[in-house]
Parts: sequence; structure tokens; C-alpha cells
Amino acid sequence: MPWVIDGSGAVVTGGGAGIGRALARRLAAGGARVVVNDLNSSAAAAVAAEIGGYAAPGDVATEQGVHDLIAAARGHLGEIDIYCSNAGIAAGQGPDAPEETWQRSWEINLMAHVRASRELLPAWLDRGRGCFVVTASAAGLLTMLGSATYSVTKHAAEAYAEWLAATYAHRGLTVHCICPQGVKTSMLEASGEAGKAVLAAAAIEPEQVADALWAGLADGRFLILPHPEVQGYYEFRASDPDKWLRGMNRMQQRIEEVEGLEAAQ
Ligand SMILES: NC(=O)c1ccc[n+]([C@@H]2O[C@H](COP(=O)([O-])OP(=O)(O)OC[C@H]3O[C@@H](n4cnc5c(N)ncnc54)[C@H](O)[C@@H]3O)[C@@H](O)[C@H]2O)c1
Repeated sequence: MPWVIDGSGAVVTGGGAGIGRALARRLAAGGARVVVNDLNSSAAAAVAAEIGGYAAPGDVATEQGVHDLIAAARGHLGEIDIYCSNAGIAAGQGPDAPEETWQRSWEINLMAHVRASRELLPAWLDRGRGCFVVTASAAGLLTMLGSATYSVTKHAAEAYAEWLAATYAHRGLTVHCICPQGVKTSMLEASGEAGKAVLAAAAIEPEQVADALWAGLADGRFLILPHPEVQGYYEFRASDPDKWLRGMNRMQQRIEEVEGLEAAQ
């Protein structure tokens, strides 16, 4: 069901920068009353001040942090209509990433969504209406060369969003899963040579992600693909996984060649 944004109460996690800030701005411009969360309290406060929203800083990588955010947001908004579970991290590389890095990735890239939905669903199912937005990634539909921690936890995020939609759509829950490739934020800046080699050329502005969500809110579609070409990659992966994997491996080999050349310089 399409959403009437005007006057709706919205929460955006990780709203102090990057994609979250663009989502908060877009929702506020559309008339939503927006609660801006971020681990960085001054960033949350700055965005809230800019858009006439309410800052609720805190860490959504913990159960208590999610609970406190939703309590603060309800205190300010009354009921929450739209919850954008956007905060995420790109940390770690392969299986040798430290246990702590794997765990941190799970907590923020998956469990933040699980915990938020646990808090929100009872009231939403009771009134037959709620909108849950997960910022996953194209890595959650495909893979992110160079980072198993990111790819695996983003697949989990997408799977969880899918499960929510499949389970609760008939009870009034709308779920959107945002799956961009490269977006020009500090996360992309920090993604290292492999990340930049794969993502930089087609990187888009955070505002384009927000516009794509805006269009998706209007028509109710689940997958929000700010890079439309991701649809084709996703279909190709499903239709011929072996060919798709061979292509990804060729890309990995090219990245290693570039890294080797750079290391030799
Ligand atoms: N930038 C990209 O290329 C890209 C592509 C696909 C998906 N994404 C996803 O988009 C989302 C936003 O990423 P971004 O690129 O805007 O990153 P960013 O690093 O620019 O911004 C993320 C914001 O989230 C906040 N944050 C981090 N951990 C938090 C926590 N535990 N609690 C509360 N706030 C927290 C940070 O302080 C920061 O302000 C992430 O889930 C990311 O995985 C990004």
C-alpha cells in the first residue's frame, strides 16, 4: 500500500551522514516528522536542526540502543509510521577477519533490523499498518569482492527483509529493501582499492538513493534499486550461478593485478 508521507512519523538510523542523511532530508521534505539517530551525536543534532527534526543519538548495534531509540522516538512522534534501519558498517575482509569484526558486522548489519522489528511489529500489526525500510546493499543480492563480512551480513539483511514482507504483508506491513552499489559517502571513501575499483565508476549521490526510496514508497515495491543495472546482475546470478561466479572471479583476478601493480610502485 503506498504511503502518505505528510505528517507521518519517521525514524532514520545512521541519519547523521551519507545515505541516512539523504533519507532524513527527503522524508522531511515530503512532510514527515523525522527522528534522526546516529552514533555521532553532533551529526544527528546537525541534521535534525537542518530539517526541523528531532535528534535521538545512540548505538543501534545493541539491543538496549534500539530499545532506547524507539522509546525516544515514540515519546516524540507518538507512533512510528516509517522506520528506516539504515546504519551499517563495512569492516573486515575474509575469513581471517577477527571474530570481533564478524560480530560487529552481524550486530549492526543484521541484528539492528531484527531488534527494531521486534519492538515495532506488535503495535504495527495491531493497527494494521507500518513501513519498515532496510538499507541492505547490492552486496546483499550479489557479493562484494574483498569483504566476506559485508557480503554475508548484507545477504542476511536482505533475507530478513524478505522474510518480514512474506510473513506480514497481509497484516499491513510494507517492507522496502534498498540495494545500491557504490554511493559517494565516507563508507565508499574507506572501502580501499578493491572497493573503489569495483564501485567508484558507477557511484551515485546519496540523494539518488533517497529519490529511489521515495519512488518505492509511492508504489510499494520491495526492492529499491538506485542502480537499475543491479536488476540484470541479480537475474543473471539466479539464472546461471556458475557463469556469474566465473565472471566475479575474473574481476577478483583483475583487482589482484591492480593491487599487485600498486604494491610494486
Ligand atoms: N556507500 C555505499 O557505497 C553503500 C552501498 C550500498 C549500501 N550501503 C549501506 O548504506 C548504509 C549507510 O551507509 P553510508 O554509505 O551512508 O555510510 P556512512 O559511513 O557515510 O554513514 C553511516 C552513518 O551511520 C552511523 N552509524 C554507524 N554505526 C552506527 C550505529 N551502531 N548506531 C547508529 N549509527 C551508526 C555513522 O556514524 C554514520 O553517520 C549502510 O547500511 C551501508 O552498508 C552503502
